Amino acid sequence: MTIGIDKIGFATSQYVLKLQDLANARGVDPEKYTKGLLLEEISIAPLTEDIVTLAASAGNSILTEEEKQEIDMVIVATESGIDQSKAAAVFVHGLLGIQPFARSFEIKEACYGATAALHYAKLHVENSPTSKVLVLASDIAKYGINAPGEPTQGSGSIAMLITQNPRILSFNDDNVAQTRDINDFWRPNYSITPFVNGIYSTQQYLDCLQTTWEEYKKRFNWTLNDFVAVCFHLPYPKLALKGFNKLLGDSLSQEKQELLQKHFDASIVYSNRVGNIYTGSLFLGLLSLLENAETLKAGDRIALFSYGSGAVSEFFSVELVEGYEKYLDKDRIKVLDKRKALSVQEYEKVFYEETHLDDSGSAKFSSYEDQEYALVEILEHHRYYSKVEK
Ligand code: CAA
Repeated sequence: MTIGIDKIGFATSQYVLKLQDLANARGVDPEKYTKGLLLEEISIAPLTEDIVTLAASAGNSILTEEEKQEIDMVIVATESGIDQSKAAAVFVHGLLGIQPFARSFEIKEACYGATAALHYAKLHVENSPTSKVLVLASDIAKYGINAPGEPTQGSGSIAMLITQNPRILSFNDDNVAQTRDINDFWRPNYSITPFVNGIYSTQQYLDCLQTTWEEYKKRFNWTLNDFVAVCFHLPYPKLALKGFNKLLGDSLSQEKQELLQKHFDASIVYSNRVGNIYTGSLFLGLLSLLENAETLKAGDRIALFSYGSGAVSEFFSVELVEGYEKYLDKDRIKVLDKRKALSVQEYEKVFYEETHLDDSGSAKFSSYEDQEYALVEILEHHRYYSKVEK
């Protein structure tokens, strides 16, 4: 039985900050962002857009009404959860109208969470072949005004439907994971922004990449020659480029190197304009590759490197299936063009916006016209979401 991604979709928030504007405001050479980090823009989310609304939008963009009645598991992977107890997946299950006899829960390990969710989904379908699992990787990356990570913020959600006989790609049985107990990036419960050992985190990312890859090659006897592309976790594309260059040590023909480079470039098109979406960013890279590369075909094998601070990393691979291109959206870039650009002043206002609850623990929100789903009210500490009627 083959199991894999049957459908994949993406949603991001309604606002965008151009990094040229941020660079000017922070007195930084804009090329530090465009060339030093390989980022042009980052998506910014207001209070009414959170991981639930983004996940619901991403999910709704790929699901038919029939599929909503067939899904029996909803997993939200996130490191920007909105409740310590109730899973974001429960809210999304309700918003999408998924049939009631489903298991819904949240999963966390920094940017690695969605990879663990995919593996769990695969095991579930192996056990129960007619099942369909909705995996949502949803995050808002928020580092802080003037923080070193400020230009690498972002927000968005990737939705993936996992089934048997998938129409886009199948998983190979070749996962190799690694865990190290380190403090490179973490967010205690009392803080809305993470603590980051920036340079150390980049060193750990690259070292986990190298060591996990070496173990992968040893276990499976595959080299880069067996793949047409490698997708990376993308905290910012330049770090992935450094990782990509490290892997090129294998003996590769000039032609193969050029193909891998072309596919790497295709894999960073979306992240370059969205920023870091934490656990979804590897899969935004995969989506970007599938929708922007011109030379992919059925049977091609793609390697994926997942990294979540703390840290857990994993290498695994997937294989494209016949007709995969029919289930993609080659015009997706238009979604990014539609976002409203914020001035730096407006972005800072959105950044500092907080929910002010009254004595009963309630607050109402009103400015959510440009969203598909919105957080509309908190009533006695309960969050209420709704599809926005246009
Ligand atoms: N023109 C072109 N390039 C320039 C430039 C200019 N005028 N000025 C600087 N640069 C280059 C630098 O040379 C550097 O490139 P190299 O890495 O190739 O040397 C790059 O721009 C970045 O500049 P700095 O080294 O001065 O670093 P910084 O102060 O901007 O901080 C960072 C970089 C530490 C990564 C920071 O963005 C950060 O803290 N980010 C958040 C943490 C993060 O993303 N870590 C990644 C690994 S952890 C992970 O993957 C999980 C996750 O998602 C968070």
